[in-house]
Amino acid sequence: MPRSTWTGYWPARTARTDGLTHGLADPREIVLVEFVRLLLVFLHLLGMALLVGMFLVQRRAAADAPLNKGWLHVAALQLITGLALQLLAPATDQDYNGMKLGIKTLILLVIAALALVYVIRRVPAPKWLPPSLVGLVVVNVGIAVFWT
Ligand code: HEM
Repeated sequence: MPRSTWTGYWPARTARTDGLTHGLADPREIVLVEFVRLLLVFLHLLGMALLVGMFLVQRRAAADAPLNKGWLHVAALQLITGLALQLLAPATDQDYNGMKLGIKTLILLVIAALALVYVIRRVPAPKWLPPSLVGLVVVNVGIAVFWT
């Protein structure tokens, strides 16, 4: 009589109940890694929302106001969470498209570079800048969702 139980989820890794794991990861480790992935996705999606929010904040600022530093901080959040998701892919069993993520990274670097230049210069943000930045954000959302 096998001592294994069918859990319906990660069967190969949870089948044994005798403490041995067939050389595979401990189920608690898998749950932890999956939690970290979900946390990163959560922050990544919040970052997307915040970038759109930055556009609205910038629209309410005076015409001669410099670019809000928030653009730079949230761009950094997107880069860190995105790259962490990509680097964790072997551990999280995700099969991401390298070309898609490369293009998203390039677009984000353009956003970050523009934000860095205008935050450092502290000159009034040109009229074209906030719509261009949010336009690039929307392009990245489109790539994330439609490039399957
Ligand atoms: C402005 C910048 C970015 C925006 C607005 C953005 C937006 C999004 C959105 C909306 C999703 C969810 C898509 C879905 O679940 O169908 C997503 C997922 C993802 N993004 Fe980004 N992203 C950005 C930059 C990046 C960068 C630079 C990377 C780094 C390589 C990256 C890596 C990823 C990965 C790996 C996922 C999949 C997460 C998962 O479901 O496990 N993103 N992104």
